[in-house]
Amino acid sequence: MPQPRTRVLVLNGPNLNLLGRRQPEIYGTETLEDVEKLCVDAAAPHGLEIDLRQSNHEGRLVDWVQEAREQHAGIVINPAAYTHTSVALRDALATCAHLPILEVHISNIHQRESFRHHSYISPLADGVIAGCGIQGFALAVQRLAFLLTDRA
Ligand code: DQA
Repeated sequence: MPQPRTRVLVLNGPNLNLLGRRQPEIYGTETLEDVEKLCVDAAAPHGLEIDLRQSNHEGRLVDWVQEAREQHAGIVINPAAYTHTSVALRDALATCAHLPILEVHISNIHQRESFRHHSYISPLADGVIAGCGIQGFALAVQRLAFLLTDRA
C-alpha cells in the first residue's frame, strides 16, 4: 500500500528572502526562519512535516510546484508579486488539483494598491488568508491538515 504523504510544501515567492528587513512597516520584523518555526509547530500535532522553500525566480517556483504534485501532501503558497502576474505559476498549480492548496499573504492585499487586488492564484486555492501577518502561514497549515483528514 502507498504510504500517505506527510510533507507540506511551503512556497515563498520573490523578495520574501528579505522578510524582516523588507518594508517592515508592511511585512513586520519576523523572518522567513520565524515563518518556518511557526509552520513546523502548526504541522507537528498533525504528523506533518514542513518543507519551506523560497525563490526569486518564477521558473524555479514552477519546478517546485511540479515536484509537489508527485511528492507532497499539500501546498501553502505565498506567491508574493507573482500572485498578480504569473499565469505560469497558476498553470503549474492547476496540475495539483488532487492536493490542498492554501494561498497566504502577510499583508491585506485588498487594502493596498489596486494592482494587488487581483490574484491569478486564488481561483485554484482551497482557501486564501491575507492580512494576518506571518501567523497566516500557521493558520494555512492548520487548515491544510484539516482538509487532508477530511479528504482521507
Ligand atoms: C505579499 C503581497 C504581494 O502583493 C507582494 O508583492 C508581496 C508579498 C504579502 O505577503 O502580503 O511580495 O504576497
